[in-house]
Amino acid sequence: MKKSVFLHSWAPDDVLADLKEHFDVDQVNIFETGSLDRETFNRHVAGKDGILVQQNRVDAEMLAEHAGKLQVVANVAVGVDNIDVEAATKHGIQITNTPDVLTEAVADMSMALTLAVARRVVEADRYTRAGKFQGNPFPLFWGADITGETFGIVGMGRIGQALARRAKGFGLDILYHKRTRLDAATEKELGATWASLDDLLKKARFIVLLTPLTPETKHLITARELGLMREDAYLVNISRGPVVEEAALVDALKAKRIAGAALDVFEFEPKFSDELPKLDNVVLTPHIGSASSGTRAGMVRLAAKNLKAALLGEAVPSPVNKV
Ligand code: DGY
Repeated sequence: MKKSVFLHSWAPDDVLADLKEHFDVDQVNIFETGSLDRETFNRHVAGKDGILVQQNRVDAEMLAEHAGKLQVVANVAVGVDNIDVEAATKHGIQITNTPDVLTEAVADMSMALTLAVARRVVEADRYTRAGKFQGNPFPLFWGADITGETFGIVGMGRIGQALARRAKGFGLDILYHKRTRLDAATEKELGATWASLDDLLKKARFIVLLTPLTPETKHLITARELGLMREDAYLVNISRGPVVEEAALVDALKAKRIAGAALDVFEFEPKFSDELPKLDNVVLTPHIGSASSGTRAGMVRLAAKNLKAALLGEAVPSPVNKV
């Protein structure tokens, strides 16, 4: 008898066909249905040997309910903060993620958000669409210079390093913060200098957050850290919302304590402070850091490989826990 899987996902045709060849597939295509509420999602998970999910919350209670049958949760994301990995490990459930395939796309978006907020692209777009462009552009939308400025990367994993390569091309001086320093050769290749978080916050004009969300990185940026930043500095968060205390950021932006922010993620996602859209010095995007078509397909492809390998007892390409 075939094992059964639930995909709360779109999947490329060949991926879907391959999964159907090996498993009984229950698919809810996220393009057609949007997100499922917890109860409906949980109903689909019941009786499945494996699930492939798009950042659905898979909590301890759900894992306990399906333990014994459920063998693998293949997350279509590199971050796994939506899953209680500790509880999964306790129940012997394999968790997998999708590293590498999204590195370049997220690095691109990090740079896009930096440039958008620094050069006021979204503000200028709104102005132009509103028919306000009437004459001489000289006085319009003076933004920040990029070349020669200091660029701070917080979280220097694969994506941070890909971003550093881009920043180098823009002629930025790169500081980075990471618990464990990179080796000297990699620092040299990237042209990046290690700094303590406080030092980086004090010196950088542009600060990009790329840390995973863990108990240690929750509220890494609060009023204290925002208070250390330069008044002409910009904060870009493309990691996870709770890394920044949103209320403190809103206060800092309103008070012009810092020059601006670009946010792809929010502390209470998908909700965010009503104050943010009122501010001109803010760019807001709906958690689309890895949303390029090739990358999204690559993520689903890798998640499907993980799902299949775990259920067929083969080596799992990107395991998160040891079971
Ligand atoms: C990730 O991979 O963690 C992204 O946030 C998903 O879009």
